[in-house]
Amino acid sequence: MSAGFIPVNPADDSGQANSRWWSENADDYLTEYGGVLGEADFIWGPEGLRERDVELLGSPSSLRGASILEIGCGAAQCSRYLATQGLNVTACDLAPGMVEAARVLNAKHSVGFPIDVADARALPYETGAFDVVFTSFGAIDFIDDLADLHREVRRVVRLGGRWVFSCSHPVKWIFADDPESFRVEHSYFDRTPYIERFEDGELEYANFHHTLADHINSLSECGFVIEECVEPEWPAGREVVWGAWGPTRSARVPGTIIISARAA
Ligand SMILES: C[S@@+](CC[C@H](N)C(=O)[O-])C[C@H]1O[C@@H](n2cnc3c(N)ncnc32)[C@H](O)[C@@H]1O
Repeated sequence: MSAGFIPVNPADDSGQANSRWWSENADDYLTEYGGVLGEADFIWGPEGLRERDVELLGSPSSLRGASILEIGCGAAQCSRYLATQGLNVTACDLAPGMVEAARVLNAKHSVGFPIDVADARALPYETGAFDVVFTSFGAIDFIDDLADLHREVRRVVRLGGRWVFSCSHPVKWIFADDPESFRVEHSYFDRTPYIERFEDGELEYANFHHTLADHINSLSECGFVIEECVEPEWPAGREVVWGAWGPTRSARVPGTIIISARAA
């Protein structure tokens, strides 16, 4: 296997690669991080910021009766939390293995809501079908051109509806992939993705960098107005280590950004 910061080729299909990677690694991922995520809990990232406390999707009363869509849902812990609050939620993810894990957890918790296999760039839903679309670390970091995603979210969210997402903070990209390290290894301005390839050269996994300006400009171009931006701080005493997030570096450098935008 080869890995590193290497341009993807035009022939590479990063959606197909990431779909397979997330399917094949769903069990390992959930074994490693399932305890932090919970099974019916809604956190916005490794800092443990809870939707219950910040209400970035809206207050529970404003969400009553609203149609909510989670994209890149993984095992759909966030949607499961919302469903247990009596809210009307639909979830989807690119990886069939993740969708299967989500369905198993729904059965375990006796919770029922639709969970579909779907690339966030081509959603199988009607135009304007949702009042709120969100993701907690789904899709964004795995998509090269953000406009492909924001345009599709804008299509399925009604005028005035909300699009809220968390993803890697753009600044995190420059640092070594080590939660203890403050070493700067990459240019903030270099969008060359991190990729892994099988021995035969086929793309196995791809992770993309978007600068802050990329996020802002892409949302604006696709018909969204940014209403709020959150950089969750690492809570004192939180010992969780999650990939390159952890108490040493994340206490001083933001690891996560959350953006809330309104469909204009
Ligand atoms: C880090 S998980 C986030 C899910 C969950 N909230 C969590 O924290 O575990 C990333 C998810 O994004 C999904 N994903 C990656 N690319 C996607 C795309 N283009 N469309 C939809 N989902 C995608 C992956 O399959 C994976 O389940």
